[in-house]
Amino acid sequence: MLNRSTDPEAVDISGVSGIIKFFPNLVRVSVRTIAWGCMNKADDTTRHSHLKSDILRSLVKLPPMPQVILKARETMANPNAGLRDLARIIENDQALVAKVLSLANSAYYGISGQVSSIQHASVLLGFKTIGDLITLSASSVLLNRELKGYRLAPLAIWRHSLSSALAARKIAERRFPGNESDAFIVGLLHDAGKIILEPFLSSRSGGQTDVLPAQGPVTEMQEIELLGVDHAEIMALACRFWRFPEAQVKGIRFHHHPAQSSQSALAYVAHASHVLSQRAGFGCATNEAPVLEDGVLDFLELQPTDVDELQQQMIQELESLEEAFR
Ligand SMILES: [Fe+2]
Ligand SMILES: [Fe+2]
Repeated sequence: MLNRSTDPEAVDISGVSGIIKFFPNLVRVSVRTIAWGCMNKADDTTRHSHLKSDILRSLVKLPPMPQVILKARETMANPNAGLRDLARIIENDQALVAKVLSLANSAYYGISGQVSSIQHASVLLGFKTIGDLITLSASSVLLNRELKGYRLAPLAIWRHSLSSALAARKIAERRFPGNESDAFIVGLLHDAGKIILEPFLSSRSGGQTDVLPAQGPVTEMQEIELLGVDHAEIMALACRFWRFPEAQVKGIRFHHHPAQSSQSALAYVAHASHVLSQRAGFGCATNEAPVLEDGVLDFLELQPTDVDELQQQMIQELESLEEAFR
């Protein structure tokens, strides 16, 4: 299963030096950044280096990933914890109570209109599903927004994230049973680095028509060209900052290139779910037809017909779950 970082220094992060101490790889320049740096002028490299430092500093100012998600994950990983403990996490936050009840009563969970209390929802839905509901409710606050710098419509990243999470859980059910919740959270958050980069992209993209095309979403290569870092790398760093399990960090870091992940199951699942979502028209990365990286179908033991079936299931599930967020 997936281990959490136990580094005792990880909690003591109060500034940039703390970040660099915590994330030694922050002071290294990524391979791709080196490649781009070699191609660009020296002043571009310096500018990128300053920008990347600014972006990394911004992680300190970010609100913590809703603490409730981390608390729920900890509770779920604790063999001595039970449904009552999860229910208590929800009941301590009135906004969360309303959202969880709305979700529990959505068509997706098949018990529409029957759930009137968190205790009742817990009994009907069970430990794992209640844990996923907490993750989903808290993440929707983070992801349900417009990203103007990326040229994404108000619901684009939210629908892409939610559909990817549903597809990721389905794939994990088939190939990595027992890891459905981890797949769900990686699918849900794989592109959340765009939220972190958005303010930097908005300020950098003005007048950068030589870098950005006239229209269409900003790609990861354009992120690197403009900012010196892409959304997958920055979100992986943020998740380490928030002390997510390392397997989830890796899944998010390599969701565009799972072959570089040293066989991370979650990276393959995240990549496939991202592509399935794009194929179904819930994209937020590019207008081009999405393609699975070589070897992904083999790794996940899927046939092309399985992919079509998973995509259909994902679309149906998205429709039945989305009503709860309207
Ligand atoms: Fe992505
Ligand atoms: Fe994606």
